[in-house]
Amino acid sequence: MAAVTPTLPGVDFSNLMERRWSCRAFRDEPLPDDLLTELLATAQRTPSWCNSQPWQVHLLGGDALAWFRTELAGRVAADPLGVASDLPLPGGYHGVYDERRRAAGYALYQSLGIDRSDKAARAAAMMENYDFFGAPNALIVTTDKAQGPYGAVDCGAYVTNLMNAALDRGVATIAQGAIGVYAGVVRDLLDLPEDRLVVCAVALGWPAEEHPVNGFRTDRADLTDVVHVVAAP
Ligand SMILES: Cc1cc2nc3c(=O)[nH]c(=O)nc-3n(C[C@H](O)[C@H](O)[C@H](O)COP(=O)(O)O)c2cc1C
Repeated sequence: MAAVTPTLPGVDFSNLMERRWSCRAFRDEPLPDDLLTELLATAQRTPSWCNSQPWQVHLLGGDALAWFRTELAGRVAADPLGVASDLPLPGGYHGVYDERRRAAGYALYQSLGIDRSDKAARAAAMMENYDFFGAPNALIVTTDKAQGPYGAVDCGAYVTNLMNAALDRGVATIAQGAIGVYAGVVRDLLDLPEDRLVVCAVALGWPAEEHPVNGFRTDRADLTDVVHVVAAP
């Protein structure tokens, strides 16, 4: 039998997935424009429902990102309860979902030396989202309203491909739903039309690898908890 030629010679994707993590501290060093363009072009190959490609991205860097993060952080701090997500938020966390959420939160706060009872320190850590964790670039990802939940699914695939393409070039990333939950502020700052829904942001840049917040890794459920092999009746 003829040997199967790998479609992507040289790419060790499983190794990349082992290495990936959400970066929450970046070096203050801009990414080259051509690298950003390359990552966006790779992510553009993402499959979507009927190839509708509902995503659009607003790319922020330099003075524009400086302005955006100041405005966003200021408005969130002034009205922390002014949450206005375009997409429906999780209805609640129960059972394993709550356990996983708590474990991830605990690992994050522990890496920063924050005690669980220290609400002020936790709130300050949360506010780092609105500084994009110091990243030199950020993308705001939006979907077309009429494409519904599958449009958001397509955007999730786009975000994932962009993040993995970035890591493949040594660029760290984090998806940020925390930006999406203030969609009203984002819409106002970017002058988004009503038919574009804010999904999330992605902060990206070279990682500050020595920062303790980049030192922990999250677990995943066992395959046996996730995969249900269907037997013929
Ligand atoms: C759609 C999406 C939104 C997220 N939003 C945030 C966020 O707002 N702030 C944050 O610190 N992490 C955010 N994360 C990162 C998750 O917390 C992280 O992926 C999860 O805990 C697993 O950890 P890992 O990515 O390091 O493996 C988000 C991830 C996804 C996929």
